[in-house]
Amino acid sequence: MAAVQRFGILTSGGDCPGLNAAIRGVARAAYGLGAVEVVGIANGYQGLISLETRELHRDDFSGILTLGGTILGASREKPYEDGERVSDSEVAMSKPDIIKANYRKLGLDCLVVLGGNGTHTTAHLLSEAGLNVIGLPKTIDNDIWGTDVCFGFHSAVSIATESIDRLHSTAASHNRVMIAELMGNKAGWLALYAGIAGGGDVVLIPEIAYDVESITRHLERRTTQEKPFSIVVVAEGALSREEAALGKKERRRLRESTGFTTIGYRLARELAQATGLETRLTALGYVQRGGTPSAYDRVLATSFGTAAAQLMASGDFGKMVAMRGSEIVGVPLAEVADRIKLVPQGHPLVETGKLVGTCFGD
Ligand code: F6P
Repeated sequence: MAAVQRFGILTSGGDCPGLNAAIRGVARAAYGLGAVEVVGIANGYQGLISLETRELHRDDFSGILTLGGTILGASREKPYEDGERVSDSEVAMSKPDIIKANYRKLGLDCLVVLGGNGTHTTAHLLSEAGLNVIGLPKTIDNDIWGTDVCFGFHSAVSIATESIDRLHSTAASHNRVMIAELMGNKAGWLALYAGIAGGGDVVLIPEIAYDVESITRHLERRTTQEKPFSIVVVAEGALSREEAALGKKERRRLRESTGFTTIGYRLARELAQATGLETRLTALGYVQRGGTPSAYDRVLATSFGTAAAQLMASGDFGKMVAMRGSEIVGVPLAEVADRIKLVPQGHPLVETGKLVGTCFGD
């Protein structure tokens, strides 16, 4: 008799390729391990607050392995953060209290959450409050603590790399500096991997504050000694040395004063002025999160899903499934909550980039 007969499942935070593959993996394995009822919760934790749920059946998990996005919908609802009270009948209750009440009202034995850092921080707090919770790490940013890799990341690397490849041909045709702005507000994993894979001449990530003069010297040396065009890959959260020295508020004020909406536009202007070279920007944006998952992510998401079902069947709650080397393990949510996995100083891939002549702006 499995420990879990009836579980709820939700997807929270930014969407990414592989969510539906993971949902399918959890459900199909859970059915085989004894779970009989699956409750789909709409739009992340928001659906658990407003009770937007529906009973899912085997055929709901058919044909979704290759589907981008999430069949459940997602939101960035953070029930513990805004402290807002929501009236439930005549009594105003906190969002966490409503979630706990609805978890019981739905008759759930477990809640499976697919999400990023914020999702797992909430999952930990709900677990501490007595709910049976299991997490699966998803994000194109790959910045969740405790796992070597999240699903969604490799699909985004492939999408970004293919786009960077295309920028090479137009850069060469017009002797331009083409700047590709990638997602990644706090962590630069996506820009690092896609920058190396796409042969970026300059790769800028939030973890390494950049100096425009250092980039300028690199581009001028390349123009005179190698090729009259260059590719710059920049994470949306990359910071100049000047910005890195500021606090959050001053940094925001400085950015707003430049009048540029994102770093890419400002960097394009700065580099054009400093080098005299024609520069153009392509901000990849949400293209990096769309479409069908890569083969790697289909396998990873399915594997995370079945591992979550096994944790559920054995009643091993309060954990996030994680990749450690080649092994999938369960990591306590307490270890994941409120943490982020940044590119560490001296990471081997940064060293590799430097060895092939990539400039990191430092
Ligand atoms: O968390 C993944 C992510 O795609 C980040 O890389 C990006 O900065 C953010 O989500 C965008 O958030 P939203 O989807 O709320 O605009």
